[in-house]
Amino acid sequence: MSIVINSPLDMHLHLRDDDMLKVVAPLSATSFSGAIIMPNLIPPITTKNKLIAYRKRVIDASKDSSFNPYMTLFFKPTYSKEFLSKVKDEISAIKLYPAGITTNSEGGVSGFDIKELKNTLNAMSELNIPLAIHGETNGFVMDREAEFASIYEMLALNFPNLKIIMEHITTKESVALLDRFDNLYATITLHHLLITLDDVAGGMLQPHLFCKPIAKRPEDRASLREVAFKAHPKVMFGSDSAPHPQDKKEASFCSAGVFTAPITLQLLTELFLENSNLDNLQKFISTNAQNIYNIEVPKKEVILEERDFIVPTKYGDIVPLYAGEKIKYSIKEIIC
Ligand code: DOR
Ligand code: ZN
Repeated sequence: MSIVINSPLDMHLHLRDDDMLKVVAPLSATSFSGAIIMPNLIPPITTKNKLIAYRKRVIDASKDSSFNPYMTLFFKPTYSKEFLSKVKDEISAIKLYPAGITTNSEGGVSGFDIKELKNTLNAMSELNIPLAIHGETNGFVMDREAEFASIYEMLALNFPNLKIIMEHITTKESVALLDRFDNLYATITLHHLLITLDDVAGGMLQPHLFCKPIAKRPEDRASLREVAFKAHPKVMFGSDSAPHPQDKKEASFCSAGVFTAPITLQLLTELFLENSNLDNLQKFISTNAQNIYNIEVPKKEVILEERDFIVPTKYGDIVPLYAGEKIKYSIKEIIC
């Protein structure tokens, strides 16, 4: 039996830069029609020139003309309406990181003082630029996302016309917010649908499963699975595939990030066929995102089949999720 997915989209992707970009970009670009590209480079993408230059490097590295990189800027409360008007056509969203919360986020926002944020957020609202947020406080690691719920509420209430995307949600508290505020949306990763904290640290430590936000409890995963499997219209797939070199993962001070890009479609197919259906996978992985972001996407048909695939142990010096293991589905053909 063949399974067909049309124009898959990854609404949260880290492609990095330089040599790593050249390794990882083609892995997403061949099988996806587009992806929201994260701006947390060193230094982050904060100017129009940097953005345009990075987009070009991404396109060059992708080697697939039917892949559209949807670019993002790194949020700064100093962005003026004038600046945003000039950059608007080049971006699909602006990504806000709380300062120091994850990889390369040191230049993010400290405190969430509405007076400090309001000019930029009002301008984004007027210009219809979505705000994508890494929603975690500096609290206890298991509670950071749940504690951030009050900040999501404050932003949703004060900026009702601003489209706010709660990135890579991991808790039942975040899922509950979706139905309370019209302007809140969410991305969900593959790894947070698959694992809980037990898989990361319940036995011997698994650094390749360590990410931010950290995987949570079984009931949180159940809540994510529920909205993903029914393809809740405000939820979309965003892998948060976040490559780091092997020596930065298998180390003390292990970097946060799970590298899933090469096997996302195969594993999502398996998960959805076992727990939901192909129609809902199509919505979760493409249609919902097209509606939420209001984007046209390149045509691409990905045909998968039930055939064992042994996950390579490495891509360059990056270890993927389930390295060396056998998974059930393979990509058979991609028609552009
Ligand atoms: O695990 C993560 N890795 N979470 C993030 O928010 C950032 C990402 C990265 O850039 O490595
Ligand atoms: Zn991310």
